[in-house]
Amino acid sequence: MTSTTDIAKAYESVVKGRRSIRGYKPDHVPKELIAEVLAMAMRAPSSLNTQPWNFTVVSGAALDAIRQGNTERNLAGVPSSREFKASESYEGAHRERQIGVAKQLFAAMDIARDDKVKRKEWVLRGFRQFDAPVSIIVTYDKVLKGNDIAPFDCGAVINALVNAAWSRGLGCVVNSQGIMQSPVVREHARIPDDQLIMMCIAMGWPDEDFPANAVVTERKSIEEAVTFIGFDD
Ligand SMILES: Cc1cc2nc3c(=O)[nH]c(=O)nc-3n(C[C@H](O)[C@H](O)[C@H](O)COP(=O)(O)O)c2cc1C
Repeated sequence: MTSTTDIAKAYESVVKGRRSIRGYKPDHVPKELIAEVLAMAMRAPSSLNTQPWNFTVVSGAALDAIRQGNTERNLAGVPSSREFKASESYEGAHRERQIGVAKQLFAAMDIARDDKVKRKEWVLRGFRQFDAPVSIIVTYDKVLKGNDIAPFDCGAVINALVNAAWSRGLGCVVNSQGIMQSPVVREHARIPDDQLIMMCIAMGWPDEDFPANAVVTERKSIEEAVTFIGFDD
């Protein structure tokens, strides 16, 4: 029987070891393994067990067509047409954290602040979903559009997904760049009209030699994030 200590250690190793993966080996990821990971992820809680999420797993020629369409539109300056609201730009502490992760990634990739060519190549890499062999597009039932709970539930399943994948040796990066050009994704991933595109997740076997994969991002402290009430009095 597995002891509670073993379970705690295994859980901690997944949660603390996981990081976003932005460089992949080209190796095939078996469909059965992806289904296993998704089945684990779908143990995530959802409001009233509504499970509004659906997944379209894209690979091969269809994913290449999405990469190409995303790249062409980005180079042509086509504005984002993502299907959920996002802040145009962050300010204050949020902006600082955004800059913080960019600095860590650029330092790892040896991209200088004023190197416009390398920076653009990095952005395009994101639009190509980091050349991952698999992209999982998360959608939810359009009938729930405007309901804040549905994206919340999708966030829960996505967190469960990246951790379940990590427990099987697979790397992921949640990637909003990949779904910014919604018509491209809709066409090549054949997303049904009754689905709203929430997010995509690039997935594959991590390339251990890719420097950005070693980046461990910072977290705000417990003191900064948590307020305990009724404990010390
Ligand atoms: C909703 C969401 C969208 C994201 N979009 C991108 C993206 O477009 N490009 C990217 O490189 N990383 C993206 N990320 C990854 C975050 O930058 C990353 O999760 C964060 O910096 C924390 O690092 P970690 O995942 O390594 O712990 C996204 C993450 C989330 C949750």
